[in-house]
Amino acid sequence: MLNWIVLCGYFLFLQRIIHYSLDAVSLLTSADLVTRILTICIIISQINCLFSALEFFGALKLSDQSVNLKCIGVDLGTSTIKVSFGDKRYRIPSIIGEPNPGGFAGITQDTSWENNLVAIIDNQEWYVGELARVQSVLKIPLAREGKVKSTKEAKIAVLSALGIIHEPHQDIKYVVGTGVPVATGTSEMQELSKAIVGKHKFTLKNDATGEVKTINLHVVAAPVLPEPYGCYYYVLKSRGIEKAFDAVIIDVGFGTTDILSIHRGTIVRPASGSTPDAIDTLAEKLASFLEEHTGYIVKLESLAAALEKGTKITIGGVVYDIKPQLERVAQIVAESILDTLDRLIRNLPPQASVKYYILTGGGIYILGKYLKDALIERKLATKEQILIPDDPVMANSIGFELVARYFAEKKLPST
Ligand SMILES: Nc1ncnc2c1ncn2[C@@H]1O[C@H](COP(=O)(O)OP(=O)(O)OP(=O)(O)O)[C@@H](O)[C@H]1O
Ligand SMILES: [Mg+2]
Repeated sequence: MLNWIVLCGYFLFLQRIIHYSLDAVSLLTSADLVTRILTICIIISQINCLFSALEFFGALKLSDQSVNLKCIGVDLGTSTIKVSFGDKRYRIPSIIGEPNPGGFAGITQDTSWENNLVAIIDNQEWYVGELARVQSVLKIPLAREGKVKSTKEAKIAVLSALGIIHEPHQDIKYVVGTGVPVATGTSEMQELSKAIVGKHKFTLKNDATGEVKTINLHVVAAPVLPEPYGCYYYVLKSRGIEKAFDAVIIDVGFGTTDILSIHRGTIVRPASGSTPDAIDTLAEKLASFLEEHTGYIVKLESLAAALEKGTKITIGGVVYDIKPQLERVAQIVAESILDTLDRLIRNLPPQASVKYYILTGGGIYILGKYLKDALIERKLATKEQILIPDDPVMANSIGFELVARYFAEKKLPST
């Protein structure tokens, strides 16, 4: 509709300009000097006016496009999916599962969509994220051994994440930037991108409230890249850096640590990889120490969650401060991560010169200090060369939202 109004505006305006120009030309040929000078001034102001009008209508068209095109960043980690969409940011566990209705759910306190998500896609019902983690008997992790396992399941997770944000009855097109674990192959990334692009019709149900959303959405582009690239792009953009620099990104997660090497803005595959040394390794070592001392079984996820608050852990009503053990174990895990890094960066081209080591992922809150010390001690970097983004958990997904925006502006000008 707006396009037709703009077109009519163009037409009427051009007609007026041609009309006045013809009058002006006849005056130029017949009138005295003063009238001729005045006529030239009027012609110049008309040309100016024409350009302003074209700019105005152009801007109107652009703003119309940006209203209907939304950019989203998704970080598909091995343990958590992070989603960034403007000021909306949320995390859901990287699991889908078979439905397992628990019956009456009327007294559930948390009624948020992200924690009660049921997706019905291609006539199949799935529990997604937290609901699958808590309720499903058969749970399918979306990524294992540092890579996305199946395009079909990853697509269910990405569409569900989009569905949470999508307002039904709105004609919105999406560009979705997605990050996957580093060990995921290029062909799998292309396959996932192809599966996400297109028109999708599915249903989301909130298990706690019973609310149902029918989703009808159109994804016009879906760049898929290794997870830590999101953080690299975020650091580049948030610091206003125009020229790509050589960097190594160390992304410490729960189940894996991903290492991504970048030379002249391009990912160097042989110098990138992942290691299982991460927060669960640290939690495993601390859990066995605590089990030996207390006789209680300690769950890794609960211990990792407790470590987010500090080093005082309560077991069987008794508080233990595990600071000395944590320090020792963190040092060992950090050294082990750097052994992998050492091995990988030997595959960087000889002309590469790493300007920054970027430390990211939630694991940095615990391991950051030890990784920093070890990088400096091994003379791989100086203090100034080590960067940590302000939100290490969400940095990848924020970066992928920016990648999606880049695609929307540069690659899809006429969408
Ligand atoms: N504020 C915090 N303080 C301490 N630890 C934290 C904090 N935030 C997150 N973590 C820890 O970071 C770990 C992993 O964070 P992150 O969300 O980056 O992992 P992930 O991306 O899900 O894992 P993976 O990369 O293996 O998929 C969690 O185990 C969590 O305990
Ligand atoms: Mg991660």
